[in-house]
Amino acid sequence: MTLLTMDDFSAEIRYAASALEAGDLVAFPTETVYGLGADAENPEAVAKIYAVKGRPSDHPLIVHLAPEADIFYWASDIPDEARSLISAFWPGPLTLILKRAEHIPADVAGGQDTIGLRCPSHPVAQALLREFKRGKGGVAAPSANKFGHISPTTAQHVREEFGDDARIGAVLEGGQSEVGIESTILDMSRFHTHGPVLLRPGKISAQDIAGVLGIYPAMPDSEAPRASGTLSSHYAPRTPVVLAGTDMLRTTFRKFIRAGKLVAVLGYSPIILQDAIIQLTMPNTPEGYAHELYSSLRMLDDVWADLILVESPPATSAWEGVNDRLRRAAHDEGGKIDKLLETGT
Ligand code: TXA
Ligand code: MG
Repeated sequence: MTLLTMDDFSAEIRYAASALEAGDLVAFPTETVYGLGADAENPEAVAKIYAVKGRPSDHPLIVHLAPEADIFYWASDIPDEARSLISAFWPGPLTLILKRAEHIPADVAGGQDTIGLRCPSHPVAQALLREFKRGKGGVAAPSANKFGHISPTTAQHVREEFGDDARIGAVLEGGQSEVGIESTILDMSRFHTHGPVLLRPGKISAQDIAGVLGIYPAMPDSEAPRASGTLSSHYAPRTPVVLAGTDMLRTTFRKFIRAGKLVAVLGYSPIILQDAIIQLTMPNTPEGYAHELYSSLRMLDDVWADLILVESPPATSAWEGVNDRLRRAAHDEGGKIDKLLETGT
């Protein structure tokens, strides 16, 4: 795996684009998280993504497009409302699920008849997408992490995640991802019958979408397209994560300390917990918190604590993207607390 440091921007973008054209994998920065990219129209290249990530092959991938790309090449029956969302939010952290155009291989969509499309705003991602197949291609890219683990927000995280895996051709450097959590995913493929459906919350909130469409997106029903980002356990560190509201934070913390546990704390309010092996205090805006979230969880995951105790941020809609990721990181928390306390000394 070659690290492209962007000292010679255009040469490195060309190198990465030709690697993609040759069917190799390239990790690249986006404004949300780093992606692990492959030519979306090359089923062998797409298969490499599933192999390297350890991701089940029926989980669809998002196709990333250059700003000038022709969405009618990728999708069919595109509702006008989807085009309004594209004008409002692209380039940016919004993925739209649309009907897949027939000639686009089903592999990239995990066999579904829909396709996820997104146009990232990160300048390195845009340069790569404009160079790759002269801007006419699509780069399929899930987050550049092992299946179920925390998404990477720096090139260093990508290298830690995959070591020297020779199956990854190159990693493009692009600084720390600005947004820090994955894109909002909105299903517009059944718009005429179901309206917009929010499959994964993100920086672009339900309220932002309602601001453009005049209606709030619905929550997924049983027929909604499957999204691995919506599995109850995802985005998870190796260390068990336990969530507690501000009012219960100190009591919960003491319970674990009394049981002899090593507790790492991801705080939010100014409360200081003595005896924590490490405590990080997060920014108090949803944007600031999201930006720091994954690098902070990775840091706390590396200190060999018995658990990471997270103080829940506010439950308001602006925090939904952050709260969604924290809930998944802390999945099965009841079971985990019992287990941790059972084995306590
Ligand atoms: O911000 C992001 O979206 C990042 C960056 C790299 O762009 N990508 C990302 O990809 O988060 P991934 O694969 O980790 O998550 C993509 C999610 C998955 O939950 C997948 O199931 C869903 O998008 N998805 C993709 N295509 C879909 C489709 N046709 N129908 C339903 N869900 C789809
Ligand atoms: Mg992911």
